Amino acid sequence: MDFLTLFALYVGLVLTCIVLVCRYSGRQQTPFNVLFNSVLKVVAPITPKWLQRFSQWALHRLFHQRNNMFIYLHILLEFAVYAEFTGEVFGFCREMDTTLTSLSVPYILLAIKTFFFYLCIKRDPGTVTKKKVAGQLHIYQYDRRLFHPGVSCPTCQFVKPARSKHCRVCNRCVQRFDHHCVWVNNCIGAQNTRYFLLYLFTVCAMAGDIALLTADMLLHAVLRSGLLRASYIDENGEQQPAGPLFVAQHLFLAFPRIVFMLGFLVFVFFLLAGYALFHSYLALVNQTSNEWYKSRGLVCQHCHPNTADHLCSPAPNHSNRHYYSRGLLRNLGEIFFPPQPAQKKDN
Ligand SMILES: *[C@@H]1O[C@H](CO)[C@@H](O)[C@H](O)[C@H]1NC(C)=O
Ligand SMILES: [Zn+2]
Ligand SMILES: [Zn+2]
Repeated sequence: MDFLTLFALYVGLVLTCIVLVCRYSGRQQTPFNVLFNSVLKVVAPITPKWLQRFSQWALHRLFHQRNNMFIYLHILLEFAVYAEFTGEVFGFCREMDTTLTSLSVPYILLAIKTFFFYLCIKRDPGTVTKKKVAGQLHIYQYDRRLFHPGVSCPTCQFVKPARSKHCRVCNRCVQRFDHHCVWVNNCIGAQNTRYFLLYLFTVCAMAGDIALLTADMLLHAVLRSGLLRASYIDENGEQQPAGPLFVAQHLFLAFPRIVFMLGFLVFVFFLLAGYALFHSYLALVNQTSNEWYKSRGLVCQHCHPNTADHLCSPAPNHSNRHYYSRGLLRNLGEIFFPPQPAQKKDN
């Protein structure tokens, strides 16, 4: 395969990953979603009806019903990266005298990550049940801003505790609902936000660590090959020093799988690091992504809902940011030691 074909394949795959990730994140107005929908509109007239119906069914099945597809995809991608790392990078790194200690870090991180991943999947996020709802109602006060007392869930048929939300995928109300995560096929709520945060951080560390080890290995390979000092004869017969493009092409041809993996890891790292930082910020200011999302478009009760400018400009009373924050440590404490319904009753 020549360089350009390989490169086109590579870019295509990375773009597919981006589109997939943006679809799952469920935020309606990402630029990729807009792109995705407009592409859908363009290709709709030229695709046969059965294919359209099938893809609609598949999308519904994937994103609006509980299923383990993304857990399998997660494990598959992880397996591919670790197989490549163990099969190729590990050996090269050993030749270049990387210590066994630093080479074992990715495996330790993998074990830690699997533990949190498992807890995210298996832990009950804080389902609101008939039996527990009385206690759960007392955990948080209604702020009369995003959550109002006496609102019932039409499906579950009980009064919704403050900060809870009905998950349409799982068909249940969840306490301190954050979002439904397809990667763990579970809601993220009061009882598993802590595992979700730790999981995000360990995945980031994993991707970052393997990327660093791989980049280090490639750097050594370039230095050892003497390519930086090399030169080539161009079509005019003149000697040219080998530039960065030349080195990149060499790496692509000499280690296609490793370079491919490195690109994937860098992409995953930046994407998840951004996501993990966003969730840490939310944890520190005592907000869920559900509340963050809702309060961004909050309609102020004091303004008339029918006037054009019913969205208030941020005044002290209307400010959305850090509205619930009671200090960083207490906010974090609530994430890692979520209040239990029974405890609250004694107070
Ligand atoms: C977090 O915000 C809720 C209101 O949504 C409040 O009831 C709770 O006390 C806050 N927790 C902390 C630790 O500040
Ligand atoms: Zn419900
Ligand atoms: Zn859910």
